[in-house]
This record gives sequence, C-alpha cells and structure tokens, in this order.
Amino acid sequence: MTDKLQLHSSRTIGFNICLILRDLVIDMGKIRVAIAGVGNCCSALVQSAIFYKKETIGLIHNDVGGMGPTDIEIVGAIDIDSRKVGKDLSRAIFEDPNVAPKVNDVPALGIKVVRGPELDGAAGVLKELITVDGSRPVDIAKYLRDAKAEVLVNLLPTGATKASKFYAKAALNAGCAFINCTPAKIATDDKWIRSFAEKKLPLVGDDLISQIGGTALHMGLLDLLNRRGVIVDKTYQLDIGGSMEAYGVLEDYRREEKRKVKADAIKLVLPPESKVATGTSDYVSFMKDKRTSYFFVHARNFLGAEVVADIFFRTQDSSNGAGMLTDIIRGVKLAMNRKLGGQIPSISAYGFKSPLVRTSVTEAQKWFEDFVAGKRKS
Ligand SMILES: NC(=O)c1ccc[n+]([C@@H]2O[C@H](COP(=O)([O-])OP(=O)(O)OC[C@H]3O[C@@H](n4cnc5c(N)ncnc54)[C@H](O)[C@@H]3O)[C@@H](O)[C@H]2O)c1
Repeated sequence: MTDKLQLHSSRTIGFNICLILRDLVIDMGKIRVAIAGVGNCCSALVQSAIFYKKETIGLIHNDVGGMGPTDIEIVGAIDIDSRKVGKDLSRAIFEDPNVAPKVNDVPALGIKVVRGPELDGAAGVLKELITVDGSRPVDIAKYLRDAKAEVLVNLLPTGATKASKFYAKAALNAGCAFINCTPAKIATDDKWIRSFAEKKLPLVGDDLISQIGGTALHMGLLDLLNRRGVIVDKTYQLDIGGSMEAYGVLEDYRREEKRKVKADAIKLVLPPESKVATGTSDYVSFMKDKRTSYFFVHARNFLGAEVVADIFFRTQDSSNGAGMLTDIIRGVKLAMNRKLGGQIPSISAYGFKSPLVRTSVTEAQKWFEDFVAGKRKS
C-alpha cells in the first residue's frame, strides 16, 4: 500500500515536473499561436515556418527581441469552410477558395482545423465562395485553452464584424492576446482595450497593413513629398486582385469599410483640403493572389510647378500580409513577456492601417524597433 502510494506520488511529482518543463519551454522559445480564418494570409504564415528555416530573404526583421520567424508555432486553427474543417492545417491551407501559392511542401502538423461559429463570416457575396461546414461549432475558448494558445490571430474576411468580436471575447476568456487583422473596430474600441488591459493581455489592430502594399507605399510616398515641401492636392490609389478578400470587397459595405480605413491612413500626411480617393476597386479572378495597385498623385513644388506621379505596382497579397504579421506576433509575445496588457500603441501603429495612435510609416517602424529594444514602454 505504502509502495503504491509512493509510486503514485512520484508519478504525480513527475507529471508536475513535466508541466513545469513544458511551461518553461513555452516561455523560453516558441510563440503558441492560434488562427481564426484559414485563408490566404494564414497559408503564407504557415508556409513561412518552413521557408525561414533555410532563408532570410524578404524579412523586415530577422530578430525581434531574440525571436526568429520560425519561433512562431501554430497550435490551433479555426474555420467554417467544409473544405478546411477537419483537415490537417498543412492540407487545409491549400484548399479552395484559397489562392495563395504553394511556396514549399508543408509536412503534416497534427493540427486539425476546427469548426468555428459562422455569424457574419460568410455573409453576402462570400456565400458564393465559402461552403459552410454542416458540423456544430466547437467551444472556442475551451479549444484555445486546451491548445495552450498564447495569441489568437483574427484573419476573418473584411466585414465579419460580429464573428471578429466573438473571437476577441473567446481570446479574453481563454487568456490569449488578440491580434485583429480585420477592419472590425476592436483594438481601437475603449471597451475592448479596457477588458484586455484588466486581464493583462495585449490587444493590437485594427486592419493589418501589408509589408509593402498599396497603403504603405502610398503613405510612404506622400510622406516623402510632404517632407520635401511638395503640396499634394489630388491623389488616388486603386487595387485589382483575385482573392476572396478582393471579391468580398465588391460588396458596398465592405468596400466602404476598407475605403475609409485607407483614406484615413493616407490623409495623415496631406493638407486637409487635398482630394483623396482610395479603395479596392475590382476583382479579376485570374489575378488570384496577385494585386495590382495604381497610384496617381498630382502636386505642386517650388514656384508652384506641377509634379505628377502615375505608378503601377504589383505585389502578392498573402505573403505581403504574413510578412508583417510575423513581426507583429513576435512583438506581441514580447509585450506578454513584459506583462503588458491592453493596447500596445507602438505595435498597432507599425502593423495596422487603423491604429489607435497614428503616425507615418517611418516613424511607426521606429516606435516598434524602440519598443523591441526596450526604449519605449508600449
Ligand atoms: N495582405 C493580406 O493578406 C492582408 C493585408 C491587410 C489586411 N488583411 C486582412 O486580413 C484578413 C484575412 O485576409 P485573407 O486574405 O487571409 O482572407 P481570406 O478571405 O483568404 O480568408 C478568410 C478565412 O476566414 C474564414 N472564415 C469566415 N468566417 C469565419 C468564421 N466565422 N470563423 C472562422 N473562419 C471564418 C473563411 O472561410 C476563410 O478561410 C482580412 O480581413 C483582410 O482584410 C490581409
């Protein structure tokens, strides 16, 4: 009997040591990330974990607070599309309607995509592209806790506001930081900021800015003209893409949501009387994951002389988003290590089109780098 008890207690001690060791491993190295929305951006992020084992090309920062891009470990994945739900994440990322290219093979990850609640995730025209799975949604907060996720990344389609808020709440309940890549107003909303601050969980967003997409290039160009004393009176930026995101924003309410976010970002560096037009303009299916952006700038410089820029710009959407997300996730982990909760303005200003505190692209990157270096508190 005594022997049995001793065996039992040594097993319990052994189990507890395992738990402690596991938590130590979590703290020291990998960032345990769950993703809501196994779409194109998710596909690029998952593939990057393999790609960057051998490469460093195209990273904004190789090292963020001692963490590399391959320190991001996906531990959970949620979607509603029957072509993705129930499949290993390594296969789900290549299913229709995703159009992100296959950059490298992804071995089985042992993470099955689980069914989330639909809410407004497949509303309107997205019904034509998303095949909603017939199974019942799982308890997301429990799923996140069981997966020991530290961060939940919200990669739902633009316009999925109710569903995005649902995932923010689930992250709060599960004790996860929340990264809102969608334009839904969450990381800029006082109520959400307070709730995450109370639980000492970082909250960043809203609306991911691509590593070098239309908005970043437009903002950077206008900032340069501004610094050189060039007065911009008219400018527009129009996009054409072939992804589900590009299709979704054909719908008026999604288009308006995106247009407002982009216009607000651009206006920061322009005189108030300038005429600005921005917005995703059209969907062409054969473009797939490619995005073409057209920029027009009309301005005046010395002696009132005319300056005109007409620019054609081609990028790939999924990798462009994931390129920035890779930095954001590591920044958020750093904030968690520093026991910070609520809004982290340096991360949001750097990585999102609609942050709580807005500044130029160059300044925002400096804020982020200063935060990482410990020269800024948040
Ligand atoms: N370059 C980029 O990738 C980029 C840049 C800036 C912003 N964003 C934003 O990131 C978000 C994701 O972009 P994407 O191109 O990967 O989108 P996507 O359209 O390729 O994928 C969205 C995924 O969400 C799933 N989904 C829909 N409703 C859901 C629900 N209720 N629960 C779980 N899953 C649901 C869909 O089935 C799909 O798999 C968008 O809001 C977009 O505006 C992306």
